[in-house]
Amino acid sequence: MKTTKFVGIAALSCAIVVAGCKHNTLIDLTNPTVTVDCDPDTVYFQNDVLPLLISNCAMSGCHDGIGRIDEKAPLSSYEDVMSSGYVKAFDANDSKLIEAVTDGGEDFMPPSPNEPLSNAQIALLEKWINQGARNNACEGGDCDTTAVTYSGKIVKIIDTYCLGCHNSTTTSSGIDLSSYSGVADIAADGSFLGTIMFESGYVGMPYNGNPIPDCKIDEIRIWIENGYLND
Ligand code: HEC
Repeated sequence: MKTTKFVGIAALSCAIVVAGCKHNTLIDLTNPTVTVDCDPDTVYFQNDVLPLLISNCAMSGCHDGIGRIDEKAPLSSYEDVMSSGYVKAFDANDSKLIEAVTDGGEDFMPPSPNEPLSNAQIALLEKWINQGARNNACEGGDCDTTAVTYSGKIVKIIDTYCLGCHNSTTTSSGIDLSSYSGVADIAADGSFLGTIMFESGYVGMPYNGNPIPDCKIDEIRIWIENGYLND
């Protein structure tokens, strides 16, 4: 699905004017602008940013839009993120989202005992904002299923899509995916593929999120079929 160039330009020019133009109806808040080949220097909201927010902020009881109180704006979609007021396009330094994950004060997010975002994750969020906080997505691009290793591919997928809810302090369902042994366990019992493919009998993962891209599912399947090595 591709949206017209017009929407992209309108969104961009609007974003340049002020972050506060979130009510401008010219911005398409729902449909991302999809690029076929991923540009390695661009951060994509749908591919890179939203999964991190779902995993680290939109977990149950937090910014999930359920039972919400004002200071817990939902962060489960582009529209949510832009209407939260936490993001000022082109200005990460003046965006509450970045302040919350970097400033060690009492509003530090995610709150203890959740693990803080890594520097790489924070840098990704900043780059996305400084590139205009667009609702963009890319397809294909980095889909290379020839060399699937645990350290090269699987760790990165888990880091983006799963770790916020399944680490050594936030072990949803008793599952800790921060080390190889935890990942090997769900590979071995079939629940890794079962959950990410939303198979019946499993709770679909990422919890409350969109399914991960097909290419990533293929990479995981190949890694499991090859014996889920710690390579
Ligand atoms: C937003 C938080 C969140 C994210 C992100 C998330 N999970 Fe979960 N996960 C949960 C919760 C909560 C449960 C328990 C669900 C239940 O039992 O109803 C769970 C349960 C599971 C289970 C057991 C489910 C079953 O049916 O036996 C597996 C396996 C799992 N997650 C794997 C993953 C993987 C792999 C990812 C990344 C692709 C992921 N999760 C992302 C919160 C999350």
